[in-house]
Amino acid sequence: MIRLTGFLLLWAVRLSTVGYGQGAAEAVSDARYEKLKSGINIDNWLVRKDGALTAGQYTEADLKLIREAGFIHVRFPIRTPLMNEQQHDKLNRQELDTIKSVVNLMLKNGLAVVFNPVHPSREYTARMEADTAMQTGFVRFWSVLAKEFSSYDPERLFIEPMNEPFFKSAATWYALNDRVLKAIRQAAPRHTLVVSPVKGNVDVVEMTPVADRNVVYSTHFYSPFSFTHQGAPWLKKLPTGQRYPTDSLNAAYLKTDFFNPVTAWAKKHNVKVYMGEYGVLNTAGYEDKLAWLSDVGRITTDLNLASALWCYSPGFSIIEDPKAPAGQRKFDQKFLNALGVK
Ligand code: GLC
Repeated sequence: MIRLTGFLLLWAVRLSTVGYGQGAAEAVSDARYEKLKSGINIDNWLVRKDGALTAGQYTEADLKLIREAGFIHVRFPIRTPLMNEQQHDKLNRQELDTIKSVVNLMLKNGLAVVFNPVHPSREYTARMEADTAMQTGFVRFWSVLAKEFSSYDPERLFIEPMNEPFFKSAATWYALNDRVLKAIRQAAPRHTLVVSPVKGNVDVVEMTPVADRNVVYSTHFYSPFSFTHQGAPWLKKLPTGQRYPTDSLNAAYLKTDFFNPVTAWAKKHNVKVYMGEYGVLNTAGYEDKLAWLSDVGRITTDLNLASALWCYSPGFSIIEDPKAPAGQRKFDQKFLNALGVK
């Protein structure tokens, strides 16, 4: 009887993942999830200069520094569009080689990689939402891109197809998301995919989990936003001088606002969550930023939650002198201790 129930259960899982191909029925193992712990984002490694994708400010020395500090994975976002809008399934060979050389360098330096090659502007995603041909193109683009990365070790390379889609219609995003996941799954049957809820933040709790079991759910945490983003030059209206902790904004608030609902959702659906971004701008006071990072570090450790700090690059950095040249950069030890990476 037990055997029969087990068989039926397995069969039901397989049936529900039809269309995703083999590999989708298996949940993410604890060992693989461990690789997503203690991460850091490296923003703007690849930028577009005079039309060409170029490795800018970072070198292997940065990866060594990151690994030695105790981080075990990096999230690698690429902001500039890579999709050829005239021919969606045509990839630029030179750009691919450049991207692969950076991924290879990260892996070679003992870091697992969350590959996030579509980290677009809100204008780009708005255009995609409005244009169904562009959506279909995006699915094709991912089919060929995923094939390119399918030979990478699935224990060490994670694929995140889209950062913070921010579609106005959640239904439109989730329909597209489904098509993209299926396309990637056909090409890369064993890789764990990082799935984004429509806004990419606590709204993950409103999401219906996808049928593919070999995924983790992305969620970004910047709460309270007026504190973490105070004085952000691109947001003009957020004044500096915001403190943390206060009587009402403290660890208890962080839990009620974000961690409790997110972990309850994950538990209810028996899925895993990846906090792929969290951080504070350096326009916040040093001690306040340290207090926020300590609280988040403690909570994530207690919850056994995989995460990646935003970010290695200037702005949100935890480097002593973020403008120091490659080879001379140094992590601020107090921040590292707060995160508990070592
Ligand atoms: C966002 C984005 C990232 C941005 C960061 C800080 O969630 O993913 O592109 O730079 O948070 O605002």
